[in-house]
Amino acid sequence: MHAVTRWLAGPAGPQSFPYSVVLDEFHRVGKHFVEKSFLALLDEARQTVAARTPASRDAPTRQLTDFLDIALDKWDSRYDYRSYLALRLLRLPGAADDLSPAADAAGRRARDRLLVRLVADTLAFEMSAAAHTTGLLPQQRPGPAVVAKRCRLGVRAVTAALARLGLAGAVGTGDPPIAAAELHAIAGDLVAAEDPPLRLTMLPVHVTHDEYLFIRVLQSYECLFAGVADELRVAVTVLAQDAPGAAAERLGYAGDLLRTAGPLFSLLATMQPESFRTFRQYTDGASAIQSRSYKLVESLCRRPDADRLDSVAYRSVPEVQARIRRGQSTVDEAYRSAVSDGRLTGTDRALIARRMAAFAGTLTQWRRTHHRLAVRMLGSRSGTGYTEGTPYLAAISDAPVFTAVTTDRPATDPTGRPHA
Ligand code: HEM
Repeated sequence: MHAVTRWLAGPAGPQSFPYSVVLDEFHRVGKHFVEKSFLALLDEARQTVAARTPASRDAPTRQLTDFLDIALDKWDSRYDYRSYLALRLLRLPGAADDLSPAADAAGRRARDRLLVRLVADTLAFEMSAAAHTTGLLPQQRPGPAVVAKRCRLGVRAVTAALARLGLAGAVGTGDPPIAAAELHAIAGDLVAAEDPPLRLTMLPVHVTHDEYLFIRVLQSYECLFAGVADELRVAVTVLAQDAPGAAAERLGYAGDLLRTAGPLFSLLATMQPESFRTFRQYTDGASAIQSRSYKLVESLCRRPDADRLDSVAYRSVPEVQARIRRGQSTVDEAYRSAVSDGRLTGTDRALIARRMAAFAGTLTQWRRTHHRLAVRMLGSRSGTGYTEGTPYLAAISDAPVFTAVTTDRPATDPTGRPHA
């Protein structure tokens, strides 16, 4: 409290803001339980920043404003999935309009860097808790066998990203905690000057150990979905430009992103269900049903059916719903029109259909695994996104990803003929 008061009494420059003090207080009790008087002080800090630097969009001011908005989400009654995960501070790379090869490669690389850093940070936390070198989130800590398993699965989840970054083999395959320590060292080298510190993106609502893992796995998937959405967006564009090779590469890359990170779900499955049930009492209103990136992925594949578009699934992401209603192009439509116009034929058409079917298989697999995990952790409880919970997930698990191409079999073309 004193540190913030002192900061307010001085020039209140964004660079001298006592982030560590604020984080310590949030971590000591959990975001849900922070004293109102402390939140009021942070609100004053936010107003001061806004008043003293009204037009400033420099990076330190933006970082502080974003941090305070995230810290004050419950105070403001704005708490939701995006603020819970501090998505604004993750600066998820993506949605670039610049399709030049350099920008494209930079975007892919930035996402891989972020994914590796998120997972490395999770494992570092697990190891420091096991070694009792952190007092952070002390309740319901797991035993050494679970920590070792987490290290093994975490390293596996980022193996493909490391390879794409040119770091294949940089992390050993032996003892999991040693591998996790190697990963942590590598992740330190992957930080770019413009990246906000990851520690600012960890504001659990409670003091249960496993909430750390939960938040980081969700953030990791957000990073992946943002990447998949970008790849699909470009796939639509290049299909319309009659570049089937480029479209196939995009679809393949998108599927690989999601598939190779599969151990993330196994990692989260090590969460203790009773821990999950403890902290989720305070996460009401924050559900991944509000994930824009996921709904972008789904709706870039094909336009959702009218009843789904009008349901809570898309009401929870109004920006995406509006985009679809404005006529967002989809891979499904781009494929159909390229085939029916005779622009996509023969082996090119077969290749695209195969890649679409493979992507559909990967996304369906993701949905089924997610459903199984939710059943295990949640049982028959309702969801925090105000659905009935797992029955909602069961109902959508096998929804077709595309209509022009099925998951299991090669495509039928728009006229219903079997695919060549
Ligand atoms: C303990 C683990 C998890 C449980 C119990 C769980 C539970 C649920 C439930 C019940 C829903 C339905 C909406 C609601 O009422 O909240 C949902 C939706 C969703 N979850 Fe999870 N989830 C878990 C982990 C994850 C993870 C790691 C991700 C990755 C980002 C994720 C992504 C999603 C998405 C994208 C939706 C929206 C699906 C749609 O609307 O079609 N979930 N989850």
